[in-house]
Amino acid sequence: MSRAGAVVVRRATPADAEAITTIHVDAWRHNYRGLIAETTLASLDVAARAAAWRLQLEAGAAVFVGTPANTQAGTLAGTRADALLGWVSVGPFRQSESARPEVRSLTPGWAELYGFYVAPRAQRQGVGHALWQAALEWCLDQGYRDLGLWVLAGNVPAIRFYQRCGLRDLGLDQDFTIDAQPLVEKLMARTLASPV
Ligand SMILES: CC(C)(COP(=O)(O)OP(=O)(O)OC[C@H]1O[C@@H](n2cnc3c(N)ncnc32)[C@H](O)[C@@H]1OP(=O)(O)O)[C@@H](O)C(=O)NCCC(=O)NCCS
Repeated sequence: MSRAGAVVVRRATPADAEAITTIHVDAWRHNYRGLIAETTLASLDVAARAAAWRLQLEAGAAVFVGTPANTQAGTLAGTRADALLGWVSVGPFRQSESARPEVRSLTPGWAELYGFYVAPRAQRQGVGHALWQAALEWCLDQGYRDLGLWVLAGNVPAIRFYQRCGLRDLGLDQDFTIDAQPLVEKLMARTLASPV
C-alpha cells in the first residue's frame, strides 16, 4: 500500500468491481461529452461491466485503486473513507493484427496502461499522480522498461497529464470506432529507465 498526500493506493480486489465500474462510467459521461456520442454515453451498462471487472479481478488483473487517506483534512475532506477515488489498470501491451507496422514492431515487451479513471468529484486533486506512481512501481517491479497507452486524440487534459508523467506522443495515431463513431487515438509512451 502506498500513500501520496490525501490518497492511499492499494491493489484492487473483486469486491471493488462495482465501484471501479461506477467511476469508469461516471468519468466517461463527465469527461467524454463532446468527444464520444451521447447515445453511447447514455447506453453504458454498469451491471454488465461490473460483472466483467469482477472476473478480471478474480483472474489477478493488476488494478490499483485510490481511497481517501484522511477524511478530516485536505481537499478530499468529506469523502467517505471507504469510497474509491479512482483506479488504474496495467499489464502487457496488447498486440493487434490491425495495428500499424511501426506499433507492432515497437511495443512487444512493453507495459500498457489499459484504463485510468478518477471520479469526477476527485479529479485535479493529486489522485491521478498517486495512482500513476503505483502503476509505475508495478511496471518496474515486473521488469518492464517501456510503458505505452492509447488516449483519445481530443482528450487534451489527459494528454497534458500524461506529458507531466513523462510520456510523449509518438505520432502513431490510429483510427478506431465505438458504436460506429469514427475516432482517433494517440499512442503515448515513455521509457522507465529515466527518473519519474
Ligand atoms: C486524467 C486523469 C486520470 C488524471 O487524474 P487526476 O486525479 O485528475 O490527476 P491529478 O490531480 O494528479 O493531476 C491533474 C492536474 O491537476 C493538477 N492538480 C493536482 N492537484 C491539484 C490541486 N490540489 N489543485 C489544483 N490542481 C491540482 C495537477 O498539477 C495536474 O495538472 P496537469 O494536468 O497540468 O498536469 C483524470 O483527470 C481522469 O480520470 N480524467 C477523465 C478520464 C480520462 O481521460 N482518463 C484517461 C484515459 S486514457
